[in-house]
Amino acid sequence: MISIFRKKEFLIDQLEGITDIHNHILPGIDDGAANLVDSIQLLERYNQMGISSFIATPHVMNDYYPNTRETIENALQNLKLEVNQNPNLSKVQINAAAEYMMDQHFLDLIKTERLLTLKENMVLVEMSYFQAPINLNEILFTIQTSGYKPVLAHPERYAFYHSKDLRKYQDLKDRGCYFQLNALSLTTHYGINMQKTAYKLLEAGMIDFIGTDTHRLQHLEKLSNTAIPRKNRDFLYKMISKTREYFN
Ligand SMILES: [Fe+2]
Repeated sequence: MISIFRKKEFLIDQLEGITDIHNHILPGIDDGAANLVDSIQLLERYNQMGISSFIATPHVMNDYYPNTRETIENALQNLKLEVNQNPNLSKVQINAAAEYMMDQHFLDLIKTERLLTLKENMVLVEMSYFQAPINLNEILFTIQTSGYKPVLAHPERYAFYHSKDLRKYQDLKDRGCYFQLNALSLTTHYGINMQKTAYKLLEAGMIDFIGTDTHRLQHLEKLSNTAIPRKNRDFLYKMISKTREYFN
């Protein structure tokens, strides 16, 4: 007899061994891990979930988290020293980049120094959840004419881009953006509209990469329980493979 019960598939099983390209695991420099104890707790939980490779992406947001290459590299070194003393974390590999807020400070930075990149010329960028910067097109243009490729963090979370069609998102793709989905957007963690948009973008083949955007343990707990609906699996698996291809 054919069983009517089909096996649930969990997102975390698909993410095993992946490099997490968006997270806030570095200690004490943004709204993620507050200190080394928090960072290690996060890494131990990730480890249990089969993820041990990271590109840490602390916020660079002039008003709130005025991080620089120096503050980020110092935090990375401190965390690495702690990791090296922890036998449970012997497989952990951490590099650092940043999640840049696209504001005037960012435009100034591009012109004056080398940005921290996810890989080669790929720069993780975000914008306010309330509105896009009025000079967004100028910023995207400057990013690219300065030799970088923008990777837009969690496009599904920008409610001002939500609509029946994906025209506004297509415009961003046409302007050269890669899209990075937050894994928890596949749940209702950020709200039902974020979840709907996440699946729409995924089905339209517009999402390039997945990341967790982990700030605290609760995010990883939720992630470990996230099941993937059958109809979305193919799109999702393809995108996860692409993330591995680029970053593993
Ligand atoms: Fe983030």
